[in-house]
Amino acid sequence: MRKVRKAVFPVAGLGTRFLPATKAIPKEMLTVVDRPVIQYVVDEAREAGIEHFIFVTGRNKAVIEDHFDIQFELYDTLEQRGKTDQLEMLRTMQPAPGQTSFTRQQEPLGLGHAVWCARDLVGNEPFALLLPDMIMQSEESCMKGMVELYRRTGNNVIGVQECDPDEAHKYGIVAKGAELHTGFEITGMVEKPAKGTAPTNLYINGRYILQPEIFQLLENQERGAGGEIQLTDAMLRLGKEQTLFGYHYRGNTYDCGSPEGFIEANLAFALQKPELREVVEGLIGKALGRPRD
Ligand code: G1P
Repeated sequence: MRKVRKAVFPVAGLGTRFLPATKAIPKEMLTVVDRPVIQYVVDEAREAGIEHFIFVTGRNKAVIEDHFDIQFELYDTLEQRGKTDQLEMLRTMQPAPGQTSFTRQQEPLGLGHAVWCARDLVGNEPFALLLPDMIMQSEESCMKGMVELYRRTGNNVIGVQECDPDEAHKYGIVAKGAELHTGFEITGMVEKPAKGTAPTNLYINGRYILQPEIFQLLENQERGAGGEIQLTDAMLRLGKEQTLFGYHYRGNTYDCGSPEGFIEANLAFALQKPELREVVEGLIGKALGRPRD
C-alpha cells in the first residue's frame, strides 16, 4: 500500500461570485475569522499526514505563494517586539523548505483539467485532492478519516455528504453500493444532475484520494457539464478499472465559493473560538434587534 504523501489544491478559479472583493485578491485568500480560506484546507491536509503541497494556480494568484513563504521582516519585527505567540503561530503554519510546489492552469477548462496540470508534480503515486472552496469543521478532519479508510481499502476514496435534494444539481452526486469499514462502494456518479434526476442526495464534498491512473484518463477526457473537463467524468471511467469508495463525512462543511457559505463559515468558526463566542453571540443579537431597512 503506497502512502498518500502529496496533496493537490486547485486554486486557479476566478472567484466571480465574490466580485468586487476578488478583483485583485484571490478568493482563496479571503479571510474566515483570522486566516485565509486556503490555510484551513492546507492545515486539514497536514493533519492528515500530507508532506507535500501542490498548488495549481493561475493569473493574479502570486499572493498565495507569498502566504506560504517566510516573511523575514515580519518575523524579525515580531521577535524584536517579544510577540512570541504570534511568531510561533506563523512558524507552525509554515511549510518546511521544499514542501510546496506551484504550477499554473493557463486556461479555465474545468476542474479535471486543473488536476491534470499537476500530473508531473504528483508523479506515479496516490494523492489527496482538496478543493479550497469547501472548508470543514469537526473533531477529526475529513481528510484524516479518508486516509484511515484508504489504509484499509486502498484504491480511491471520495468524500461525500448529504445535501438537500433541491441542491443536488449544484454538485457531483454518487450512487451507493455495499458498505465497507467506514465507507461504501460507489456504483455510479453524475456531475451536476438535472433537477429531479439525482440517484441519491450524497454529494461529492471536495475531498478525494485518487490513484495516479486518473491522469491518463484526464488527458483525453471530453468536455462534460458546463462545457468543462470534469473530474467526475474521469473518475467514472476510473471506476471501471479500480474501486471507488465513498467516505461519508459527518462534520460541517461550508461552501466558501458562495457568499452564504462564506458568511456561515465566519459565524461558525468565530463561535468555535472561546474568546469570541460570547462577543459574536451578542453582536448577532444586536444586529437582529435592529429594524430592517
Ligand atoms: C466541483 C466538483 C463537484 C463537487 C464540488 C464540491 O464542482 O466538480 O463534483 O461536488 O466541486 O464543491 P464545482 O464546485 O467546481 O462546480
